[in-house]
Amino acid sequence: MDFELKSLRLSQAAAGKTPALIVLVADDFEAGDDALSALIERARGSEDFKTDAGAVLSSYGAARVAAERVVLAGVGDGAAARVRKAVGAAVGALKGSPAKALTLCFAQPASEAALRAATLAVADACYVYTTTKGKKKPKDGKAAKEPPRITRAVVGVPDAEALREPFRLAVAIANGVREAREWANRPANHATPTMLGEAARALSRQPRVSCEVLGPKEVAKLGMGSFQAVAQGSKEELRFIVLRYDGAAKSEAPVVLVGKGITFDTGGVSLKPAPEMDEMKFDMSGAASVLGVFRALGELKPAVNVVGLIPACENMPDGGALKPGDVVTSLSGQTIEVLNTDAEGRLVLCDALTYAERFKPRAVIDIATLTGACVIALGGVRSGLFASNDTLAEGLLAAGDHAGDPCWRLPLDDDYAEALKSNFADVANVGGRPAGAVTAAKFLQRFASEYAWAHLDIAGTAWRSGSAKGATGRPVGLLVHYLLGQAGETVAAPKPPAKSGKGKPAKGKRG
Ligand code: BES
Ligand code: MN
Ligand code: ZN
Repeated sequence: MDFELKSLRLSQAAAGKTPALIVLVADDFEAGDDALSALIERARGSEDFKTDAGAVLSSYGAARVAAERVVLAGVGDGAAARVRKAVGAAVGALKGSPAKALTLCFAQPASEAALRAATLAVADACYVYTTTKGKKKPKDGKAAKEPPRITRAVVGVPDAEALREPFRLAVAIANGVREAREWANRPANHATPTMLGEAARALSRQPRVSCEVLGPKEVAKLGMGSFQAVAQGSKEELRFIVLRYDGAAKSEAPVVLVGKGITFDTGGVSLKPAPEMDEMKFDMSGAASVLGVFRALGELKPAVNVVGLIPACENMPDGGALKPGDVVTSLSGQTIEVLNTDAEGRLVLCDALTYAERFKPRAVIDIATLTGACVIALGGVRSGLFASNDTLAEGLLAAGDHAGDPCWRLPLDDDYAEALKSNFADVANVGGRPAGAVTAAKFLQRFASEYAWAHLDIAGTAWRSGSAKGATGRPVGLLVHYLLGQAGETVAAPKPPAKSGKGKPAKGKRG
């Protein structure tokens, strides 16, 4: 999506030629003497249009309005959540129209949060997944007609200058969200661990971003026995992806993001039931969100250091697969009794969490579609948050609220760890049905004792089921807001030439 921010008063919006114009109208809207104000007032008077959030009225060829289509959308009190809902409804009203571009304007001054919400909602509503859709066959020698898509959006506010920075942030998050949605949506045969590694490589073409992709040999050499054990039942080779964004001085401790990258989760020998198993292609949504964050970081260039770790593999049941009862040795040295091969996310994450220690991080945040129990607890509204550190937890909670990508803190009392006791290893990988999201977090916590740690269980928020089935791109917004909060005031100065005389470190060769 191509975005542009413009100063637009209603009179100018009325005069501007555009295929589609969305006008966001709040309860406190005050009419001027332009054509759009007249339209709004007339529609309000006849009760065809209300300013309640989400109410829309579409018209075509409105008098003295240059836009072909006009959609009035109510935003109530103008708060971000209402704006988001209204923009979704308004873009929905344009569905099926041939418009390829739109202008969205606020009929009254917009807050930063409202502008961000509007921009993100336009991007969200206009995203169309096409990667594995068939190409339309040409008819009578003429090029086939693809369904029209909105690929350009102008966002108009009364005073654009004051809102340049929030707009830049929103566009970067929108691009990160798109990256995450795209990878999460791709089916497992189009988003293998190898392909995720290539996606990370592609991202490392951005300035300040570098990456290293480890394969089975390197992972074996490191001693990631738990991660390897999950991958051993699949023909697809595992990948361990290490992304770096260096926006601040080397001496600044990085924030490490760890994304669960199970590109397909059959459950392994503890096989999942067939209905909805296809949705387990989304089991790399945590990894996808890390890719999305790096996309946004490359664009925003904040003064912060970030490391992204992605253990990526399939969880499959073949003759070599991990079996219930097997004991594996993790990178930390702790042994794990695998009572259920379907609790594989924690088995790949634990080795990545141990690997994270080498960065001496200021915080480590793992992001994972970890438990069905979290879906039951919080549904699709808030992600589950667990944290060993209150400052980190508060930062993430606040970032989520700001971004409209909220989470909710759940407990980590040591009593919950009782369920993970094993007679044959240091720890078992499952603890039964009660508090399943918490016992999963307690398992991870054993491997995250060396730094401030948080865990986001996004099993309920990373994708939607049913007719709107698809990835949401969450929690890219939450994470980007959090990381910007960790950044110094200014963008990092360009790196001084290395004193050793060795020059710039080669891309793709570090970690
Ligand atoms: N990827 C699933 C979690 C999941 C389930 C996400 C449903 C979204 C919807 C994870 O690997 C898993 O299978 N977890 C098990 C753990 C259990 C065996 C302790 C679960 O939640 O059922
Ligand atoms: Mn599983
Ligand atoms: Zn899984």
